Amino acid sequence: MITATAPKKFSVITYGCQMNDHDSEIMEGLLRSRGYEKTEDEHDADVVVFNTCCVREGAENRAIQRAQSLAAAKERRPGLVVAMSGCVAQDQGKRLLDRIPSLDIVIGTRDYIRLPELIEKYQIDGERIVATEDIDKPFSVNLVPIREQKLKGFVNIMYGCNNSCTYCIVPKTRGEEWSRPLAEVVDEVRGMVAQGYREVMLLGQNVNSYMTAAREDFADLLSALNEIDGLWRIRYTTSNPKSCRDRHIEAVAGCDKVMENLHLPVQSGNNRVLRMMKRAYNVERYRYLVEKFRAQNPLHSLTTDIIVGFPTETEEEFQDTLNLVRDMRYDNAFMFIYSPRAGTVSADTMVDDVPMKVKKDRLQRLIDLQESIAFEKNQEEIGRLHEVLVEGISKKDPGQLVGHTRTFKRVVFDGNARLIGSRVNVTITGGNGHTLMGDVVTREASFA
Ligand code: 5AD
Ligand code: SF4
Repeated sequence: MITATAPKKFSVITYGCQMNDHDSEIMEGLLRSRGYEKTEDEHDADVVVFNTCCVREGAENRAIQRAQSLAAAKERRPGLVVAMSGCVAQDQGKRLLDRIPSLDIVIGTRDYIRLPELIEKYQIDGERIVATEDIDKPFSVNLVPIREQKLKGFVNIMYGCNNSCTYCIVPKTRGEEWSRPLAEVVDEVRGMVAQGYREVMLLGQNVNSYMTAAREDFADLLSALNEIDGLWRIRYTTSNPKSCRDRHIEAVAGCDKVMENLHLPVQSGNNRVLRMMKRAYNVERYRYLVEKFRAQNPLHSLTTDIIVGFPTETEEEFQDTLNLVRDMRYDNAFMFIYSPRAGTVSADTMVDDVPMKVKKDRLQRLIDLQESIAFEKNQEEIGRLHEVLVEGISKKDPGQLVGHTRTFKRVVFDGNARLIGSRVNVTITGGNGHTLMGDVVTREASFA
């Protein structure tokens, strides 16, 4: 007699950046190809993967505590497999097995494509596994990730990071820079367009230091992708001011599909602090780059990352950061309190001497300033006409649609769900710090 067995279920819980989001999509694709089904509830899953981030202590602790909290479930169901991937896994390796008794598999940032095979091995041998050894290997994933969204998708163009910012654990957790061959990226994007994707987000720790073995650079890649019929929009992150060349800025302006949205982390507005961070540019160079982008298109949107309370940062130096933020008028910023991470130069050789109370106060003042700028900038949008890619129905109000401008501003507007997947022209009628409101004026036809 043949008895049908219910398919096994997996849950992948993701922390951290877009690189991690995309790695999770790839792991989900791998598990689905082995017959697993996705569940959002980790207590209902047969395989749980925590895809982790260790850029700050808070993110790391949250993932570890959540994995520890599966101990009871694991006792009830001995068949449950718990794995940890991502940057915490790469950084801590087998130490995690001691910290998390219910953990079965530790899997590194270039080993995760072996996930199904490692699960099987664990199920056969019953031995806990640490697989973090591929970190130094060239890496390319020609697998089809299961992208949840069918209109916009992530594409890895490079892996790893060769910089040595003193606060940052990423070079240790993501290994050396390695760029995927240009033709391989173009093929992946062509395949996505054939499936109906219209916007791609190119991912890498330093996309503008993209350089293939055949000496193709980021400008070459943008130009090649710009030629793909049926692709409407190209976005990219993260750019590093250190490797941002005029050629790259010109390619952005010269390729009509490249969106007017730049994420350019500055980290601090003070040259002494930037030197201590080993960022390899100064404030003057940063200002030059932004001016150059804005000279080509004054409405080009700009976002950034900032750290406050780096070791020895004084009140005056922090004020330099406030002044830079005031001048740059960022559309959005990700703002963080410095968090010493063991194994980084700053944690190992500098004293974390800015008191937490001072760090919190600086962060709050910075957030207040940035929020007022974001609000003002969104008010200035009122009356402007924007091309919006219609992405879906607003979660808050099912009568409204939601999408993004080419400057990557979120817009909500009244409209029929049939517009989803098309581009519309929208006049902005209002906005708060985070979202714009608008009215549709013309449909897709005008973009044909
Ligand atoms: N402490 C605080 N923020 C950090 N970042 C990276 N490392 C640290 C750290 N040790 C921030 C930087 C980076 C972003 C992804 O996280 O701003 O650009
Ligand atoms: Fe976190 Fe950085 Fe790793 Fe992304 S690369 S998951 S931000 S530590």
